[in-house]
Amino acid sequence: MEARARPAGDGPYYLPTGNEVEIAGQCHARGLALMLKGPTGCGKTRFVEHMAWRLGRPLITVSCHDDLTASDLVGRFLIRHDQTVWQDGPLTRAVREGAICYLDEVVEARQDTIVVLHPLTDYRRVLPIDRTGELVEAAPGFQLVVSYNPGYQRMLKDLKPSTRQRFVAIALDFPGPAAEAAIVASESGVERGTAVALVELAGRLRALRDRGLAEVPSTRLLVAAGRLVASGIDVRQACDVAVIAPLSDDPTLLGAMRELVEAMVP
Ligand SMILES: Nc1ncnc2c1ncn2[C@@H]1O[C@H](COP(=O)(O)OP(=O)(O)O)[C@@H](O)[C@H]1O
Ligand SMILES: [Mg+2]
Repeated sequence: MEARARPAGDGPYYLPTGNEVEIAGQCHARGLALMLKGPTGCGKTRFVEHMAWRLGRPLITVSCHDDLTASDLVGRFLIRHDQTVWQDGPLTRAVREGAICYLDEVVEARQDTIVVLHPLTDYRRVLPIDRTGELVEAAPGFQLVVSYNPGYQRMLKDLKPSTRQRFVAIALDFPGPAAEAAIVASESGVERGTAVALVELAGRLRALRDRGLAEVPSTRLLVAAGRLVASGIDVRQACDVAVIAPLSDDPTLLGAMRELVEAMVP
C-alpha cells in the first residue's frame, strides 16, 4: 500500500544512523515483515515509534517473555455475564486495524507462540484463529516488526531459521560519537559539551567489554545521566548512579569504571 503522507508535527525524535528509515518505509509499503537486531538501549523501540508516526499507523507493542502464549497474542474466549465472548489479542487487533505490531525481545517467546506469526509473514498475510475458525486478512498498513538483542548468550533460545527467513533484518548499533552526543543533548537537555563528555566516557567503558564487562553502557544510560546533570546533579555522581552502577555488581569492574570517570571528570 502507499505510505500515507507524514502527519504534521515532529513526532518521536529519532536520529537515523544509516538508511534504516528508507528501508523500513519500503518494507512497510511492500508488506514485508521487519526484524531489528541490536544491543539494548540502542534505539530500536524509538525507531519503531518514529516509523509508526511517519507512516501514520497505530502502534501496538507486545513485550515477549517465556510465558507468552499464542492466545495472549491472538485472543481468547472470556466469560462475561454467563456468556462466552471472544476477545481479540493485540496481534489480531493490529491485523484488523492495519496497525504496526511490534514484538519486543521476540526470542524470549516460545516456539509454539512464534509460529502463529508465520502465515502473516508470507504472501498470504492472514491470521488464522483456530478457536473461532476465522481467517483474518491483514488490513492495508499492517506490518509485523520484531526486535531482539543478539548479544545475549542464549543456549537454547534462538529464532529458528524457518522464522528468521521470513523477515528483512536491519542491524542497529550505538550511533557514532557525534550522532550519539546529539541524541544525548536533545533527549536530556544537557549542554553539548557535557553530552560529548558522556559519549567519550561511554566509548572507554564499551572498550571494557574485553575485560569482562558483559553489559556495556547504552545510549539510554547516557540519556539518563544527562537528565540528572540537567537537573543539577553533579556530573561525576550522575555517571556513577546512571551509567556505572547499573552495569555490574562486580567490585573489580565497578572500581575500574569509577577510575575512568575520575580520570575524565576531575
Ligand atoms: N537514534 C536515536 N535517535 C533518538 N533517540 C535515541 C536513538 N538511539 C537511542 N535513543 C535514545 O535512547 C533511548 C533508548 O532507546 P530505545 O529505543 O528504548 O532502545 P532499545 O529499544 O533498543 O532498547 C531512547 O529513549 C532515546 O532517548
Ligand atoms: Mg526496546
